[in-house]
Amino acid sequence: MSGHGTPTPMTSHRAEPLKGVAEVPGDKSISHRSLILGAMAIGETRISGLLEGDDVLDTAKAMQTFGAEVVNHGGGNWSVFGVGVGGFAEPDQVIDCGNSGTGVRLIMGTMATSPITATFTGDASLNGRPMARITDPLALFGTKAVGRKGGRLPMTIVGAAEPTPVRYVVPVPSAQVKSAVLLAGLNAPGKTVVIEKEATRDHSERMLAGFGAEITVEDTEEGRVITLTGRPELKPQEIAVPRDPSSAAFPVCAALITPGSDVLVPGIGLNPTRAGLFYTLQDMGADLTFENPREEGGEPVADLRAKYSPDMQGIEVPPARAASMIDEYPVLSVVAAFASGTTMMAGVKELRVKESDRIDAMARGLRANGVTVDEGEDWWSVDGLGPDGVPGGGTCESFLDHRIAMSFMVMGMGAQNPVTVDDGSPITTSFPIFEPLMTGLGAKFTRA
Ligand code: S3P
Repeated sequence: MSGHGTPTPMTSHRAEPLKGVAEVPGDKSISHRSLILGAMAIGETRISGLLEGDDVLDTAKAMQTFGAEVVNHGGGNWSVFGVGVGGFAEPDQVIDCGNSGTGVRLIMGTMATSPITATFTGDASLNGRPMARITDPLALFGTKAVGRKGGRLPMTIVGAAEPTPVRYVVPVPSAQVKSAVLLAGLNAPGKTVVIEKEATRDHSERMLAGFGAEITVEDTEEGRVITLTGRPELKPQEIAVPRDPSSAAFPVCAALITPGSDVLVPGIGLNPTRAGLFYTLQDMGADLTFENPREEGGEPVADLRAKYSPDMQGIEVPPARAASMIDEYPVLSVVAAFASGTTMMAGVKELRVKESDRIDAMARGLRANGVTVDEGEDWWSVDGLGPDGVPGGGTCESFLDHRIAMSFMVMGMGAQNPVTVDDGSPITTSFPIFEPLMTGLGAKFTRA
């Protein structure tokens, strides 16, 4: 099992004014998809800017176990020599996806319509997460799944030998579910239709089109209707992975709450299905600007400039924006603690089934540091204490969740007293250079 090794307690002390340029790593969602679709094409897909975090490295290993050749040229440059749609070999070992829900769910979808059997596992966090949301739609193709009680990993998937295409309305707002069904549809004859009521990140649709699949997207009364024609011959691509907005969130939010800060975070992917946090921060009154907007590799990109913002106000975050910032609520709740007034975050039930129950994890850590939090099943609110009002001084559990760990390290940067995280080791799943990048800007982190 690829775990995070021994727990690494980390403490974040009040920071110097943050200054400089924060070059965050490549986008995690796009990195997973580059490797998986590269493996489904015939020939060499070249990827630059790949995120070399544990989650993506586990997906790279999995693609090799299914028969693709994956080469690391160094410096974020990788090649994948794909086996073609339906060309996966049966793995001779268990596929360990570590901490990654995206990795396991997308890979299960990809193999589900080939006549092979594979067993999947992960770390304690991943093995506690629900998989029925994937195996239910895959069963419609003829795929079988045997897992633990409650549809948990470890789980064996028996791919459908004669898959039938499906029409599926995604019952929860989840790009992982949508993508798993589309990837399964690649090797089903005919048209697979996926309908989502709320738009979620659309990297799979964009990338499938880029690789030459026949895919259409229509906005209808029923929702976003995505139609994919199965059994295409995918053509290898050159992919430049944009920097991850979900990682950019950490230096941006740290700058907003740390007096005297002025930080530039260049080349950030601003796909509208991902950028909700930045608009929310602007709505709160953050001094956050988009500079040099441009398009790179089919994705909108800009440089973000974030400056210390002592006048932020709590707001009601529009629930319709939730899918476009779902991974950013933990760090938003930290910013909310430094704003004046209450920030209400509703329509966010999905936060309960991420790498941890993120509402519970953040509520505990915020309360341990003197912040008042109220919560219900699908909402939570944070009472802001103003720019210099967060006492800090507490210890927070990270629950094997990288974004919980990083959020509390950010909180310590602006709090009156140091904030300790019981285990910072999960940070390497998505942001392996978090510590040097943040300390390079002016953060003061110590390890116990
Ligand atoms: C992801 C989708 C989201 C997100 C995750 C990455 C993806 O999960 O939280 O970090 O790359 O498809 P859900 O599909 O569970 O919403």
